[in-house]
Amino acid sequence: MRYVRLGPSGLKVSQICLGTWFLPRSAERDEYGIPKVNLDEFERILKYALDKGLNFIDTANRYHGAMSPVDLPHRGNSEKVLGKLVNKLGREQFVIATKVGLEMAPWPNGKGLSRKHVMWQVGESLRRLQTDYIDVYLTHTVDPETPKLETLRAFNDLICQGKVLYMGLSNTPPEDVIEYMETAREYRLHQPVTIQEGYNILRRDIEKAKVPVARRYGLAVMAYSPLAQGLLSGKYLKGIPEGSRATYFRAFKESITKESLDKVSRLLEIAMEIDVTLPQLAIAWLLHMQERLGVTVIPIIGATRFEHVQEDLEALDVKLSGEVLKRIDEVVYGQMGY
Ligand SMILES: NC(=O)c1ccc[n+]([C@@H]2O[C@H](COP(=O)([O-])OP(=O)(O)OC[C@H]3O[C@@H](n4cnc5c(N)ncnc54)[C@H](OP(=O)(O)O)[C@@H]3O)[C@@H](O)[C@H]2O)c1
Repeated sequence: MRYVRLGPSGLKVSQICLGTWFLPRSAERDEYGIPKVNLDEFERILKYALDKGLNFIDTANRYHGAMSPVDLPHRGNSEKVLGKLVNKLGREQFVIATKVGLEMAPWPNGKGLSRKHVMWQVGESLRRLQTDYIDVYLTHTVDPETPKLETLRAFNDLICQGKVLYMGLSNTPPEDVIEYMETAREYRLHQPVTIQEGYNILRRDIEKAKVPVARRYGLAVMAYSPLAQGLLSGKYLKGIPEGSRATYFRAFKESITKESLDKVSRLLEIAMEIDVTLPQLAIAWLLHMQERLGVTVIPIIGATRFEHVQEDLEALDVKLSGEVLKRIDEVVYGQMGY
């Protein structure tokens, strides 16, 4: 495993992070008829990842692990199962990132980035994760109704209290990131150290405006959905496989287009030519983009089967030549390339 610093901080995290939005599903259902998370399989995945040196885990107060979109009674389940396993395996070796901001209750302050909501949810996340502190606490979304100074002060207080160690921003437009950074500097508050954005071979919009802001402030880029939710595994080229995300997450299923499948099929050819799997090519590509973009890129992988984490972590050893990177650009952008 390689380790990188999380942006300008001294925190060392594995070059690949493991996400918990979707976890292995069990055949058992809860009292609402919703599939339960398969804890044994998740433990196998977590132990394997830890054994390979992966120490960085991403979650959010909202995740369930086997359901999306998540209804209110099921929110928080991923944090609960993660907390159980992390404590079993030894909390201190892990760096846990979780998030706040999305709706957790139907009342007016049940969502957002106000001091009231953040202070409530940090307590809930600590309880669910069975921990005294969160390593990296991120805003999950923007909240135009809360002044950024209020959010920054709430996070700063949490850092001073030791409940949170570092701050990050997810799904935040570049101008808002700049405002957070400059406001924190002006008021001498702890500054965010990372952003977290959707980034993969097929989704490169962050390269235009968000990456330059990350570079300017030395922020790490935690790249979520590195396999485009599984599309970049190639598994959808012959239809929708049994048990895959597209069978139970409608928004994802609807996002799969003929155009994206054509690109996936051309990327698969490249992967086969260089004797790696398509998931390995996609993750290795993100790792190679670090140098090109001048920022630290940490892919957050998702694994619902043991074999996924085994295969995906091997991307760390995959070297892509300039020629291969150029061909990948051509698939995405046509002959003009990047
Ligand atoms: N900040 C945010 O708003 C945000 C948003 C999204 C995600 N995230 C974070 O990023 C993490 C990763 O997102 P993601 O799950 O969308 O990532 P992803 O890596 O793009 O997709 C993971 C899915 O790809 C499939 N897969 C993975 N490895 C495979 C392999 N080797 N062969 C075949 N299929 C494979 C599995 O799908 P099947 O289960 O269908 O087999 C798996 O669930 C999340 O868990 C979460 O922590 C954050």
